[in-house]
Amino acid sequence: MTDHIIVEQSATLPGVQIIRFNRPEKKNAITRAMYSKMAEALASADDDRSIGATAFLGTAGCFSAGNDLGDFLAVAMGGGMPREVLDFLYALVKSRKPVVSGVDGLAIGVGTTMHLHCDLTVASARSQFRTPFVDLALVPEAASSLVAPRIMGHQRAFALLVAGEAFSGDEAKDAGLVWKLCAAEDVEAMTLAIAATLAAKPPEAVRISRDLVRGDREEIIARIDEEARHFSARLQSAEARAAFEAFMRR
Ligand code: COA
Repeated sequence: MTDHIIVEQSATLPGVQIIRFNRPEKKNAITRAMYSKMAEALASADDDRSIGATAFLGTAGCFSAGNDLGDFLAVAMGGGMPREVLDFLYALVKSRKPVVSGVDGLAIGVGTTMHLHCDLTVASARSQFRTPFVDLALVPEAASSLVAPRIMGHQRAFALLVAGEAFSGDEAKDAGLVWKLCAAEDVEAMTLAIAATLAAKPPEAVRISRDLVRGDREEIIARIDEEARHFSARLQSAEARAAFEAFMRR
């Protein structure tokens, strides 16, 4: 079991499960084992009455550089989108309890798109949200092609997902990807405080209200699958392999 993801229950904030990226030397790039551990934690929170909310956190200056490109290169040699990625996305979309996130610094690829499925995201102004899918000869994932235009409108979603433009913390907040900005050193405390507040509310009322606000998840799952078919084909393309190899050779 990888220790690149740390799952813990907050010692001081009852009801809060923390999922923390812990691979700073690789900018918290996400391997298959890390996806599996996160999916497991989300699923077990659903069944654990002592957990009321989950908070995703990164490390100082880096939330996550997205999918591990070495893993993608291995997949490019044969196979599709890794099963572990899909299991994580399904678990995130289907989670029955509030999920919040705190971002300080880099949030790339799925390190950006996962916040589209979080209920409340806090970020520092110095954060950078970016999805270089097209530059890597890939396509958007995590149902971002469906959810991002709904949240931020076509032009901003296009800038993020297709043009690969970077969004600062302020721009992400303007676009509705982030709820609140705060100082870098306050991101963790603020994220956990929000999770604790949610965890302290009547759980069944939270669950029903959240379901109503989130709407149809089947549509989102269907888009994850549709994107994954394209993504898998792109992963095996010569242009994607060239992009991953160029990164690994730097
Ligand atoms: N997959 C695998 N390794 C990654 C990674 C990724 N997505 N992102 C960073 N790393 C590794 C680097 O290879 C480097 O490893 P090394 O020290 O063994 O050489 C280490 O993390 C530090 O990264 P580095 O590039 O030196 O840091 P930086 O501050 O100059 O740049 C990034 C940071 C995130 C801008 C840059 O690493 C980057 O562009 N990463 C790729 C992001 C990406 O395309 N993600 C996939 C989206 S689908």
